[in-house]
Amino acid sequence: MKVAVTFPIPEPAKTLLSDLFDCRFWESEVPIPSDTLAEWLSEVEGVLTTLTCPLDEASLSGASHLKVISTVSVGVDHIDVDFAKSQNIMIGHTPGVLTDSTADLAIGLMLAVGRRLAEGDALVREGAWSDGWKPNLLLGTDLSKSTVGLVGMGPIGQAVAKRLAGFGCRVIAWNRTHRDVPGVEFMDLNTLLSSADIVSLHTALTDETRELITRERLSLMKDQAILINTARGAIIDEVALVDELASGRLRAGLDVYNEEPLPADSVFHSLPGCVLLPHVGSATQRTRQAMFELALRNLVSGMRGETLPAAL
Ligand code: DGY
Repeated sequence: MKVAVTFPIPEPAKTLLSDLFDCRFWESEVPIPSDTLAEWLSEVEGVLTTLTCPLDEASLSGASHLKVISTVSVGVDHIDVDFAKSQNIMIGHTPGVLTDSTADLAIGLMLAVGRRLAEGDALVREGAWSDGWKPNLLLGTDLSKSTVGLVGMGPIGQAVAKRLAGFGCRVIAWNRTHRDVPGVEFMDLNTLLSSADIVSLHTALTDETRELITRERLSLMKDQAILINTARGAIIDEVALVDELASGRLRAGLDVYNEEPLPADSVFHSLPGCVLLPHVGSATQRTRQAMFELALRNLVSGMRGETLPAAL
């Protein structure tokens, strides 16, 4: 049975897969070209992939033997899920195992933006810290006792809420469907946006959440409020966000963008009040290993025609 792997994977994972299946491995850091992907997909029963490889209707339509897509990610917005399901292709992903790492990073970004960590680091490294302690040097805002609005209260949103309790924050939240989480006040999205000192996004990217945070909704946020995004760039109207950041009215901690990697000439590079990370929410050794293990178990189960441990 044949498997395609659409991105470079660690050696132990390659060995494990090669012992079980006839595999084609894409070894380059340059994304697999769409014609190669289509050719490989036309031959295989299984594909191990990740979010940098779009599996849209065009690439899947010739995949006549494909039984299982296993993605090393919790997000599945790079896959045409409806089309895959219409072709009876199973989809496995990696929920749960990256919850804590992503929640930790969201808290890290809240602190980094509020306490101006990147600016302080740059000042010291550049040798520009010349006057010692000064009463007004790099004054920021506290996370402790602030009001934090969580948009999306799935496992990651709930893990962030737990951490915020330790900072004595008031945690308010919005979720598409009703949730009851102790210590969290639920409210409509617009009220949340106008009440929070910090807004953090924890919803999946779907047709309903694409540009959920519109220009109008951004304008509801308080002056100097902080927007944290460790979910997906396309949840925000990015042009409107750039305008708010460029004017200095809002601040942001961003791990994800509409276009990844950010183009070399991206306007984000020059925006004040932001901490910018390269999509590393799940990037810890322990979490990445857990993601790979779960994705491999999904793939192997699908190839055997069994129920996937983490099916979509
Ligand atoms: C995911 O899994 O969807 C994250 O964005 C990357 O780990």
